[in-house]
Amino acid sequence: MVRAMSPLDPRVEALIDRLPKAELHVHLEGSIPPELALRLAHRHGRTLPGMAAGAEGLRQHYRFADFQDFLRMYLAISGCLVEAADFCEIAVALAHSLAAQRVVYAEVTFTAMTHVARGVDPAAMLDGLAEGRERARSEYGVELAWVFDIVRVQLDRAEPTLALALRGQRDGVIGLGFAGPESAAYPIEPFAPTFARARAAGLHALPHAGEMAGPQSIWDALRHLGAERVGHGVRAVDDPDLLAHLVERQIPLEVCPTSNLGIGLYPSLEAHPLPQLLRAGVALSLASDDPPMFATTLVEEYRRCARAYGWDAAQVRALAAASIEHSFLAAPRKQALREEQRQVAAELSPLLDAAVSQDR
Ligand code: ADE
Ligand code: ZN
Repeated sequence: MVRAMSPLDPRVEALIDRLPKAELHVHLEGSIPPELALRLAHRHGRTLPGMAAGAEGLRQHYRFADFQDFLRMYLAISGCLVEAADFCEIAVALAHSLAAQRVVYAEVTFTAMTHVARGVDPAAMLDGLAEGRERARSEYGVELAWVFDIVRVQLDRAEPTLALALRGQRDGVIGLGFAGPESAAYPIEPFAPTFARARAAGLHALPHAGEMAGPQSIWDALRHLGAERVGHGVRAVDDPDLLAHLVERQIPLEVCPTSNLGIGLYPSLEAHPLPQLLRAGVALSLASDDPPMFATTLVEEYRRCARAYGWDAAQVRALAAASIEHSFLAAPRKQALREEQRQVAAELSPLLDAAVSQDR
């Protein structure tokens, strides 16, 4: 049952803020704050919609009728990235934001070939990412891993994306992604050989599916790409067999509720299938997708869902734990973060106990 929107319980709020968390679905190009997008546009003589009115003018254009509308803005911002320093700067900016939310690790999607196809030097781009990742670690204690994604309407860029991902493997590329508009006009199957090669080389298969299209898109991503997690995947609710399959195989979804609302897939959190997915026992974590573009952050996703669905401390703890479990962090690091989560919950337990006795 969806409860009426109510103020957030301070116990739940404290857990959301203080538990160490992982962000498993965020796009680097979609994470650029408007102030930084504006600086990059000025630096390289590019034009962005609304920029005459500054960052606020730009933010006014972060309202989208649908995915294509979103994509226009996303590509305009992507077009402001030119040299190594730009890629470094956006990675550092992301780490800054993540650190403030107690996000200690992120698997970050990056559409490498979009930039190379525009004429960006691949070596400079990879160097910029590597330096940004190093600074994220040294300045913010945030570990970034990269997922280079293929855009599903660009089959010709599949192999070049894999080649760049393999080149970046020693600097934190851990996976091959698959994004862009989901449409029957662009079947998944032709991408299967590239994903097979990626998996054989030790890259994880992390496609978007079941966001704009129905359950068949998820089945295809599992069958043809060997998906280990599914980006979004929310349309699995429409297929009981698929739900059962995801539960049985424990294939996690990366659920980005505000993003889904932001491109008009659902009118409200009340209409979003997240509670149904949880009730079905599907493994999932919360994620922010393109946070400033959808006026959200990872902790905002936790807060909004906790409010809309009446989540208690246990539910928030379970989701923060899931974010670590579903990540590709090494086992000892996962263990250390589990322990840290236990400690934070224990430190907060006097507050939790006091609040529980007040409730009685
Ligand atoms: N690229 C950036 N955000 C995306 C989304 N939500 N779905 C598909 N491709 C994307
Ligand atoms: Zn995404």
